[in-house]
This record gives sequence, structure tokens and C-alpha cells, in this order.
Amino acid sequence: MTRIVVTGGNGFIGSHLVERLARDGHEIVAYDTAPPPPDLPLHILPGVRHVKGDVTSESALASVITPAVDVVYHLSALVGVDRYLRQPLDVIDVNVLGTRNVLRLALDSGARVVVASTSEVYGKNPQVPWSEDSDRVLGVTSADRWTYSTSKALAEHMAFALTREHGLRATVVRFFNVYGPRQRPAYVVSRSVQRVLSGQAPEVYDTGRQTRCFTYIDDAIEGTVRAAAHPDAIGEAFNIGSHQETTVGEVIGLVREAAGFAGDNDVLDTGAAFGTAYQDIERRIPDTAKARTVLGWQCEVPLREGIARTVEWARRNPWWWRGPLD
Ligand SMILES: NC(=O)c1ccc[n+]([C@@H]2O[C@H](COP(=O)([O-])OP(=O)(O)OC[C@H]3O[C@@H](n4cnc5c(N)ncnc54)[C@H](O)[C@@H]3O)[C@@H](O)[C@H]2O)c1
Repeated sequence: MTRIVVTGGNGFIGSHLVERLARDGHEIVAYDTAPPPPDLPLHILPGVRHVKGDVTSESALASVITPAVDVVYHLSALVGVDRYLRQPLDVIDVNVLGTRNVLRLALDSGARVVVASTSEVYGKNPQVPWSEDSDRVLGVTSADRWTYSTSKALAEHMAFALTREHGLRATVVRFFNVYGPRQRPAYVVSRSVQRVLSGQAPEVYDTGRQTRCFTYIDDAIEGTVRAAAHPDAIGEAFNIGSHQETTVGEVIGLVREAAGFAGDNDVLDTGAAFGTAYQDIERRIPDTAKARTVLGWQCEVPLREGIARTVEWARRNPWWWRGPLD
């Protein structure tokens, strides 16, 4: 039995991680500003304690990241393009101040730490697939679009510097387009599922020819848990993503198929809707050789099956798709 803290433990990835770790018999604190998801009241999970708190408050965080803790999974963040555009300063604060607090406390308490990062750190580097050593290629600092990428990269820099200089045992996982049950309906899969179940047409941004590598939540959790356990993962970053490149148009087609939706798609002109602050990335593809070699991990759930599972879960949880768009 291991004592674990999951920051952002009530979010999409965090809640699935907490479920998995509880099933494995660990003792877990889910530390989050938000309450647990409605379909997962935490009291039903043995060994899980919910603590409401903000990662930007070092004193509050210090009450949970104590010398008794073995592993910290740091997942708290403000996620989603809508948030980078609406709350850029909060995005930076949570990623930079929050991560600094988590890392300092993990160092003091001797805990191992996994930092959730993102494919967005590679920015718009046109040379795909991206390996963990690929360059970061970003836009201008006047575009809020890049606050998330830049602040996550700073979080990574802090993790690597503390590992090298002070012996912190940190690992970075860079997630690529994770999808599945409970995800906020603000991303292509979750938003399309929400729309079709509530009788609206799915919305395609521009041509729908942008590609992504969609990663089912269970695969992302497996990669994350392995990253926390493997001794060779300390001081390293790993791409956690599917290698199956899919256009956004195709993935919307799979959602339509799984949900039995027959009408036309709506098309959104992002230039007109969001202005120049919005910059899409045409292709986002991970090279996953390192995760395969070091962690023995790769995605196992095919996209069609992951989408079918997500639609099935959503049908059983109308609170999710009947709720307002965040
Ligand atoms: N979902 C993806 O495809 C994806 C892709 C790349 C990276 N990530 C990263 O994975 C992590 C989890 O993302 P997610 O998709 O589960 O998002 P999410 O929004 O569902 O979860 C994030 C959680 O962090 C919490 N949080 C936000 N600010 C906080 C604060 N100041 N203090 C404490 N808790 C706070 C939120 O309440 C939320 O529950 C994030 O770090 C995100 O950047 C996710």
C-alpha cells in the first residue's frame, strides 16, 4: 500500500487515476478546488479522502504533501483553449506557482512526483512526429493561446532542474488528446458526444482536416501509473499518446456512428469566431518509442471502441450531457 496525493484528483484524468489507484489498494488524497464528479462520490472508494484546496496555496498544500506521502501525481491545471483565452493569468499561476509548490513540497517530503504536461509544449512545430527531444515552436507572446504551453514548459523546467540539482524524483508525462467518460464537454470528442446526445449537430472547426492522436483515458492512466513506478523514468519526459493519426472530421464521424446521429455537421469558422488570438495546430503526433521502450507502454484501446465506450457512459449519465457547456 502506497500513500498518494493526486492534485486535480476530481478532474477528468485525475478522477480516473484516483479510481484506478483505489482499486489497486492505495491510500489516496484527492486534492482539488472542485468537488468529486457526480457519478463518483469519493466516499464509495475505499482509501480515498477528498481535500478541497488550491495548489497555489503552499500552506494548504503542505497539509496533504507530508513526509508520509510516497507519490504525488500533479494534475491540477486550467485546461482548454477557452480558458487560455479567458483566464490567461490564472492559467499561468496554477501551472507555475502551483507546480513550484508541489515540487518543493515533494522534495521536502521525499515523495516521488509525476507532473502532467501536454503535447502543447511542442507548440506548432511542423516536424511531426514529435519525440520528447523535439523543439518547441511557439507563436507571439501577445497571443494568449501560448500561455498554457509556455507555463507547462516552465513547470517541466522546474521539475528537471530540481531533479538534477536537488535530487527530486520527478517524471513528466505529456498527454496527447486524452478522451473518455467525464471529460468536460469542451473538446472535440466530448463536445461532439454532448451535442449529438442532446439532439444538436456536431460542430467541425474550419475544414475538419486538422489531425490529432486521440488517447483513450484508460491507456493514459496506465502510462501515468507506469511512469510513477519505473526507476528509469526519473528525470525523464514521456509522450503519452496514441500513434493513430486521425482527422477531426473522422473522429466526429465515429461519434455520429456510435450515437446514431444522421444530420449534417455545423461548421465553425474559427477566424470569425475567435479572432487572431486563436491559432490551431494542423498536426499533433507523438513519437511513442520512448514510452514503449522504457515503460513497456502503448495505447491498447482502438479509437472506435473508446468512442463507443464514451457514448455508452454518457447515455447512462445524463447529468453530464444535459449540463450546460462550461
Ligand atoms: N485531457 C487532455 O487531453 C490533456 C492533454 C494534455 C495535458 N493534460 C493535463 O492533464 C492534467 C489533467 O487534465 P484534465 O483533462 O483532467 O483536466 P480537468 O480540467 O478535468 O482537471 C483538472 C483539475 O484541476 C483542478 N484545478 C484547477 N485549478 C486548481 C487549483 N488551483 N488547485 C487545485 N486544483 C485545481 C480542477 O478543478 C480540475 O478538477 C492537466 O494538468 C492538463 O494540463 C490533459
